[in-house]
Amino acid sequence: MKGRVLIIAGSDSGGGAGIQADIKAVTALGAYAATAVTALTAQDTLGVRAVHPVPLDFLQLQIRMSLEDIGADCVKTGMLADAATIDAVCDALAGASLPLVADPVMVAKGGAPLLDPSAVETLKRRLMPLATLLTPNLPEAEVLSGMSIPDLPAMRHAAEALMTLGVPAVLLKGGHLEGPLVQDVLATEDGIEVFESPRIQTRHTHGTGCTLASSIAAGLAQGMRLREAVLRARAYVGAAIRSAPGYGKGHGPLDHTVTVDPARVAVLG
Ligand SMILES: Nc1ncnc2c1ncn2[C@@H]1O[C@H](COP(=O)(O)OP(=O)(O)OP(=O)(O)O)[C@@H](O)[C@H]1O
Ligand SMILES: [Mg+2]
Repeated sequence: MKGRVLIIAGSDSGGGAGIQADIKAVTALGAYAATAVTALTAQDTLGVRAVHPVPLDFLQLQIRMSLEDIGADCVKTGMLADAATIDAVCDALAGASLPLVADPVMVAKGGAPLLDPSAVETLKRRLMPLATLLTPNLPEAEVLSGMSIPDLPAMRHAAEALMTLGVPAVLLKGGHLEGPLVQDVLATEDGIEVFESPRIQTRHTHGTGCTLASSIAAGLAQGMRLREAVLRARAYVGAAIRSAPGYGKGHGPLDHTVTVDPARVAVLG
C-alpha cells in the first residue's frame, strides 16, 4: 500500500458511486482511503430517493481527525450539497496545503440534483482556488464556464476558460457526448492534451466520474505526475466498465475489483 487519500463526498447506498466508489477505486489502486461523509443518499441504479445531510460540525470533525492522525497525501472532494457545506469543507482544509482533486458534482446520473444551484458561486470562489485539478463533466463545465459545449473544440475552449477561474489544471470529461470515441480534455499550464478511448456501449456507467477522480487522487497520493495519474485512472475506469457485473435495472455499477486477484489470498492459506 502506498499513498493516503482523504475523500470528502456523499454516501451512495447503492455502492456504485460516491464515497463507496471512491473507497473501492483508491483501494483497488493500492492506496489508503479515509473518508469524511458530507451527506447520506438513499439511492439505487435507477435514481436518488432521498438525501440526508450530515451536520457541518460533524463533517469538519471527520476531516480534522483524519488529517491530524492518519494524515493525507491527497484530498478528493465529491458531492458537497450546498454553499454552507462547501464553506465548512474549505475552512477545515485551510492550512493543510495538500493536492486536491475537486470533482464538482452537480447532478446524479439519474438526474437528481446533488448541488444547490445557488452554491455554484461559492464553489468557484472557495473550492476552485484550493484545487490542484478540477474534473467537471460536460454539463458541469457548461454551468461553471457559462459556455455551451457541443463538441471537442468547445471542450478545449471551455477547459482553458475554466483555468482562468484560478485552478491550475482541468480535466473536462467527455462521457456525455456521443460518438465512437470518449474524449477527455486535460488543460494545464503546459497546454492541452486530449485523451481518447473507444466508447463502450453500455448502460453500466454509474459512478464513472467518482471513480475517475478518486483514481487520479490515488495516483497523486502515490507520487505520480498528473498526466501519469490521469492515464492510469482512465485505463482503470475503462477496464472497470468493461467488466461491469450488470447489477440493477438502471445505470449499473462498475467492477471496481478489476485489479484485484482473489487467488493471491487463497494461496496464503
Ligand atoms: N461509455 C463509456 N466508455 C468508455 N469510457 C467512458 C464511458 N462513459 C464515461 N467514460 C469515461 O468515464 C470517465 C467519467 O466521465 P463521465 O463524463 O461519465 O463523468 P460523470 O458524468 O461525472 O460521471 P458520473 O455520472 O458518475 O458523475 C471519463 O474518463 C470518461 O471518458
Ligand atoms: Mg460526476
